[in-house]
Amino acid sequence: MKRIAVLASGRGSNFEAIARNVREGRLEAEIAALVVNNPEARALEIARDYGIRAISLPSKGVDSDAYAAMVRDALAPLHVDLICLAGFMRRVGAPLLEAYPMRILNIHPSLLPSFPGLNVQQQAIDYGVKYSGCTVHFVDAGLDTGPIVAQAAVPVLDDDTAETLAARILVEEHRIYSEAIALVLSGAYRIEGRRVIRTRAAEAAG
Ligand code: GAR
Repeated sequence: MKRIAVLASGRGSNFEAIARNVREGRLEAEIAALVVNNPEARALEIARDYGIRAISLPSKGVDSDAYAAMVRDALAPLHVDLICLAGFMRRVGAPLLEAYPMRILNIHPSLLPSFPGLNVQQQAIDYGVKYSGCTVHFVDAGLDTGPIVAQAAVPVLDDDTAETLAARILVEEHRIYSEAIALVLSGAYRIEGRRVIRTRAAEAAG
């Protein structure tokens, strides 16, 4: 069974969706640990409810490379195959990227490469786009720039606020993140340049 670690900073609804899919047999994986950089994260309560090992590593005042080394060292004994950022609001420093090359995924609430960074639902509304959505991508050294594994689009409605748009996008996040994790764990893809290309049916990959 492939092992994943989830890194979160706050509410943890994406973590919960992954945990539920694992528990209910829709995602074949074991969650080896939840790591939070914020000791107040509600994701910790979800980990408790699901009986998942939780590691609290506060990042306040720690630079991103030093923090990445802390996470790398905490995860080393757990032998994880894939790290999944789920509302993790820190840049991933080089020590973690080097330890897990093309083995870190992130979910982002826009259709990248539009609107990287923060407060992106408001940015999408202010820009006037008619569709936004979410993106699962591999993490590289850039800001939300790695190869794209999956995307889903939702309409932006005339009366949307950042909150209503975020909620519509979140439904899709919860769906596509587990699908993308399953694909990556199956190994049924190759990366050509920036393109993530499916190589065979994920279910057949074993
Ligand atoms: C999600 O919308 C996720 O896409 C976003 O934060 C939210 C976390 O919600 N992530 C980013 O903006 C990363 N740059 P959650 O804690 O309920 O999963």
